[in-house]
Amino acid sequence: MSDNGVSDNDISRRRLLATAGATGAAGLVLGGAGGAGVYAAATGSGASPDAKALASVGSTAAPFHGEHQAGITTPLQARGHLVAFDLAPGAGRKEAAALLRRWSAAARTMMAGEPFGDTDSGVALDAGPSSLTVTFGFGRTFFARTGLNSRRPAALDPLPDFSSDHLDARRSNGDLWVQIGADDALVAFHALRTIQREAGDAARVRWQMNGFNRSPGATAQPMTARNLMGQIDGTGNPKPSDADFDQRIFVPADGGAEGPEWMAGGSYAVVRRIRMLLDDWEKLARGEQEKVIGRKKSDGAPLTGGSETTELDLDKTGPDGKLVIPSNAHARISAPEQNGGAAMLRRPFSYHDGIGADGTPDAGLLFICWQADPLRGFVPVQRKLDRGDALSPFIRHEASGLFAVPGGARDGEYVGQRLLES
Ligand code: HEM
Repeated sequence: MSDNGVSDNDISRRRLLATAGATGAAGLVLGGAGGAGVYAAATGSGASPDAKALASVGSTAAPFHGEHQAGITTPLQARGHLVAFDLAPGAGRKEAAALLRRWSAAARTMMAGEPFGDTDSGVALDAGPSSLTVTFGFGRTFFARTGLNSRRPAALDPLPDFSSDHLDARRSNGDLWVQIGADDALVAFHALRTIQREAGDAARVRWQMNGFNRSPGATAQPMTARNLMGQIDGTGNPKPSDADFDQRIFVPADGGAEGPEWMAGGSYAVVRRIRMLLDDWEKLARGEQEKVIGRKKSDGAPLTGGSETTELDLDKTGPDGKLVIPSNAHARISAPEQNGGAAMLRRPFSYHDGIGADGTPDAGLLFICWQADPLRGFVPVQRKLDRGDALSPFIRHEASGLFAVPGGARDGEYVGQRLLES
């Protein structure tokens, strides 16, 4: 342990990261070569241990501080954990503030690729930050528990019931929500355990879900991810380069109409665990599967032609006079122009928890969507999908959550401080 309270382990790990930063280009090349090979290539040819660089996957870090929390516009990571907590009996605003302070310190440290505290488990040692993000949100029930009902945003009013819902209350909602993403499974697990441990006596896990996406480097170039039905999923998302992106996804800096002010720079996350009925889906011929969505499976292009980024031609008819993109196709029904402009940023993880009690795969989508106001994002679109989406027979919404995710912490601040301390 050095005299400033930092362990030698910390120091060597930081040096490793600094080296990785300085040799960024080399890291990138090595990143293409793959795991064990990378280590051998970096250390095996007479290079000094100090010269070993992390692969680009390991060395990439997301910033903890900023206008928005990380994990919203951060590129999808390969691993994800979603975990909801309820405050423990007797814990109120004071305990919640101390908890958010501890969790923020842990998130900031781990996102920089460093161990947290003297009792760090060591699970993430040797790895860099690996694009770790830890994102915190408040559920509707948090406000009553902490005596803050007067500051609860209207946007946290319960989501309406949908006719196709099969929701399990025990796996839904919660006082607090944490989303963890990382491009390395051990880094993600380490963050999850640290967050659970730091909850201490203040909060208890209500539910936890584990997800994944494609690993960076698995495709020849970065591509839109595929889901477990095999579709390219995410094409129609609003893009950060769109003029109205911030307005759609984030609460304005002054709190704006969506308010309240403590939510400035924040966003609302709708979380749905959506089981895919894969045995039924996989029996459909590919052409039928494509009609369900309105896009081709091979490259995500609209059935009306072009490439993945070509606009859907919703009026085009075929030689039989029928719409090429059927009237109940998922991409037609969910398109913003069919929903008064309602849009959201979908940033999901896939999940697979083995075979369910009914003998079918317990697999699907941990659907997470982000918007400045759920009433102008998820709600109108899900209402429409609920009434006649061709995808409905092949999916089942099994759990649901709605969380207010405050803006990013400023230097010296913890996430949620503007709610809990003003
Ligand atoms: C397991 C469930 C779901 C699957 C497999 C799925 C799959 C897809 C696919 C393959 C696309 C076309 C590619 C793309 O634009 O991303 C798409 C588009 C879209 N989906 Fe879903 N989806 C699901 C649930 C939902 C839900 C619950 C909502 C919101 C209530 C939703 C909203 C949208 C939106 C807004 C688009 C983009 C439409 C556009 O702008 O063209 N999806 N989805």
